[in-house]
Amino acid sequence: PLPEALDEAMIAAVVHGFYDEIRKDDLLGPIFNGAIAPQDWPHHLGKMCAFWSATLLRTGRYEGRPLPPHLALPGLGEEHFRRWLTLFRATVHALCPPEVAALFMDRAMRVAHSFRLAIAFNRGE
Ligand code: HEM
Repeated sequence: PLPEALDEAMIAAVVHGFYDEIRKDDLLGPIFNGAIAPQDWPHHLGKMCAFWSATLLRTGRYEGRPLPPHLALPGLGEEHFRRWLTLFRATVHALCPPEVAALFMDRAMRVAHSFRLAIAFNRGE
């Protein structure tokens, strides 16, 4: 059974908190701000809430394909994924009870790993 604290409000808090931090990050901020125009941020945050809702609560709210936009980002590598996961871990541990933070991290690490593999495969490594 899912922890009671894991609901749409918690997901929204994590998503908004995380992207507030990531946009200020020296390594990842320029990538996100380069790909997403200021007026498009509300749409992106809504999509990310839908993604996490579908992933953790199985609501089916996200029907997109998460991989393609990442394959299109040039030079995405290990250091970017490490930083992304470090910031995400800090966010979920600040905002969620430990069992909810663990669910977010488990899924984030799986997705990050699948993206890394897909990027390497795509480059013919
Ligand atoms: C979309 C960057 C890791 C999930 C995006 C976009 C950027 C981005 C710039 C917006 C693309 C666009 O709209 O043009 C990155 C970077 C990452 C990273 C730099 C780390 C190296 C992750 C991870 C996850 C994730 C680990 C999942 C746990 C998503 C999803 C979208 C997205 C669901 C929306 C895709 C869609 O349009 O439906 N990412 N990302 N990303 N990202 Fe990431």
